[in-house]
Amino acid sequence: MNYKIADRGLAPSGNKKLAWARQYMPVLGLLREKYMAEQPLKGEVISACLHLEAKTACLLLTLKDLGASVTAAGSNPLSTQDDVCAALVEGGVSVYSRNGMSTDEYFENARSALSVKPSIIVDDGADLVAMVHSDMRELLPGIKGGSEETTSGVKRLRSMNNSGVLAFPMISVNDAHSKYLFDNRYGTGQSVMDGLLRTTNMLIAGKTVVVAGYGWCGRGVAMRAASMGARIIVTETDPHRAFEAMMDGCEVATMDEAAPRGDIFLTLTGNTRVTRREHFEKMKDGVLLGNAGHFDVEICKPDLKALSVSVEAARPGVETFIMADGRRLHLLGEGRLVNLACADGHPIEIMDLSFALQLESAIHVAKNKMAPGLYDVPEEIDRAVMKAKLDSLGIGLEKMTPEQEEYMKSWVE
Ligand code: ADE
Repeated sequence: MNYKIADRGLAPSGNKKLAWARQYMPVLGLLREKYMAEQPLKGEVISACLHLEAKTACLLLTLKDLGASVTAAGSNPLSTQDDVCAALVEGGVSVYSRNGMSTDEYFENARSALSVKPSIIVDDGADLVAMVHSDMRELLPGIKGGSEETTSGVKRLRSMNNSGVLAFPMISVNDAHSKYLFDNRYGTGQSVMDGLLRTTNMLIAGKTVVVAGYGWCGRGVAMRAASMGARIIVTETDPHRAFEAMMDGCEVATMDEAAPRGDIFLTLTGNTRVTRREHFEKMKDGVLLGNAGHFDVEICKPDLKALSVSVEAARPGVETFIMADGRRLHLLGEGRLVNLACADGHPIEIMDLSFALQLESAIHVAKNKMAPGLYDVPEEIDRAVMKAKLDSLGIGLEKMTPEQEEYMKSWVE
């Protein structure tokens, strides 16, 4: 087994984190039990590019336990936890990643994760899929398919699919009901506040929080920040989402209008240069800038650097850009995903759902011959994962009586 990580000696600390996460991931545990004897991933070679923290490790070890040979790279230099990587290596997963790796190392590690000639890809952000399609095309014939975790990755896959270049089937885990309704909304909502609080020790109540993007993630963050006493200003490009934000009690404004008023700016658009020079020029002294979009392009760091006379490391995870007029703009987690760079990612119980979907998607790809294209998670899997979560919580569902079933099918009163 090959690997390249910071320190194998950190495994005991990683194993403790795994044990903690595992006890709150009942659905993943149930699926492991269900498939253990069958070994549905036997003979599969899985390459994954994921945020290498404890919950992800539980998924990777489960994939391995169900028969696959698993190699993983980190999907963000700051989300990789070195002790978790060590525990993974000890558990038999090949890992290429370290916290704080450079961009060159990041791509070198992703390339190493692909060098095992995968039959299945598990991606978060679509970097492995993009890499295979651009400069590792020799791997295409061996790839049965894969799955994608996040909105930004699905956006890339959709663009590949629409232009006819996606050469194998990819399942969009992100678009399953049991994913986006919970992970994107409540997961991001809580974990972004977690990252903000851990790095700054600041009060949220009474602050004006500017939320850029009112997709599922933006909705979750706005909801949680408001519940802690913040005033919310939402910026949007989409008219329906803008109006929905208004109906939810938020103020809606342009970034130009919000820039001089906000205390905390959070970007969750999936787009690029959302806060930039003309906004930084108007912001107040002491504002916090955090990003929760997958790529670190939403807060324009080159503009921040160009405008500043000096940069200071204020606290762990906080860089302060000092403007010529003395204003201090604080950038969290280098403008990378604040919930993963400055905290541990989404809550465990939420990732239990998302990673149960990832596991089921890998098994679906292994068992079914699928044509190239972008697929939804099959409806029955989506419902079964949700049902298993409710079962694990001891929550029962109403069952329709035969009369009710008949009534629902009929168009006659
Ligand atoms: N933990 C592992 N993967 C994650 C993701 N995509 N978002 C948030 N937390 C995570």
